[in-house]
Amino acid sequence: MSTNQNIFPQAVTAHPGQNVIIIVYKIKEVEQAEERIKDFCDNFSAYMRSMLNRFPNSEFSSTIGFGAKAWERFFAHLGTPKELAEFIPITGDKYTAVSTDGDLIFHIRANKMGYCHEFASIIEMKLGDVVESIDETHGFRYMDGKSIIGFVDGTENPHVDLDPFAFAMIGDEDQDFKGGSYLFVQKYIHNMQGWNSISTEEQEKVIGRHKFNDVELTDEEKPANAHNKVTNIEDDNGNELKIIRANIPFANTSTREYGTYFISYARSFATTNKMLQNMFVGEPIGNTDRLLDFSTPITGTLFFAPSYDLLGEMAGGDD
Ligand code: HEM
Repeated sequence: MSTNQNIFPQAVTAHPGQNVIIIVYKIKEVEQAEERIKDFCDNFSAYMRSMLNRFPNSEFSSTIGFGAKAWERFFAHLGTPKELAEFIPITGDKYTAVSTDGDLIFHIRANKMGYCHEFASIIEMKLGDVVESIDETHGFRYMDGKSIIGFVDGTENPHVDLDPFAFAMIGDEDQDFKGGSYLFVQKYIHNMQGWNSISTEEQEKVIGRHKFNDVELTDEEKPANAHNKVTNIEDDNGNELKIIRANIPFANTSTREYGTYFISYARSFATTNKMLQNMFVGEPIGNTDRLLDFSTPITGTLFFAPSYDLLGEMAGGDD
């Protein structure tokens, strides 16, 4: 999609999707890595066009993002996005938002897993010998967009009356990286036994919404540590600060692994980070998010998802 400034951002505001593959790679310390990565940047839009042309009804999209170390290694000559750095872990009295490695991320979505797989296999074909997998997670849309803990997830995303791009895309504040986005991910594992042992009414107080119909609890009903209270933040002038969330559930019932892959795109990482501070440290300190009593992040990595225009420059600019 083109914006009014004629910058072509990646699909950072797309619907969370029916099926998702998220892959985080480390880029190996091998000589051919640089050429291969730049070549991939050069061809990324062509791979996307090919997929959309072959499968026009697939609702396919993929974003590519780069971690701070990878950016320094290959693209430092283009400058660095103002807020791109390795994620600093957030340690509160009870919970920690860990920081884990990641050079390259792909967030692939489509209405059938086969399309996601097709694109993942193209990535592997082109980059396989210069990357190593850190994590690959396959997620799915659950019922009416519920997280695996049974509550609809994504409701408060900017939509209908708010321009999602305004919250997801870097603007004039960082000219060289305009149209890019800060992609922050965390893989959470839920304590399902603990979660299922509390009543529906108590679960609703954890999330701040009704389970049955997704309606928000009133201010009087909502405890101070409800998830949607803790993550609802404003700037100094009282304007709501938002991010775009594209969380996806994953599960392996026979091994009893239940999780949420938290995926967020933001114009400024400071917004996401403030939400994390509120969740893990608390505001005031100690008012940690009740959701963390049942959810533990095992990863946490910040990436920068460049615009298509910048991807062209990253390739070396000769296309
Ligand atoms: C275990 C992982 C998580 C789960 C299962 C989860 C689930 C949910 C659910 C069910 C809602 C209510 C519906 C909605 O508005 O989307 C919600 C709201 C929200 N979540 Fe999360 N979430 C998780 C992690 C996070 C993290 C790490 C952040 C921020 C860094 C975050 C930010 C938000 C925001 C901003 C809202 C909307 C708050 C508002 O009403 O203004 N969530 N989440």
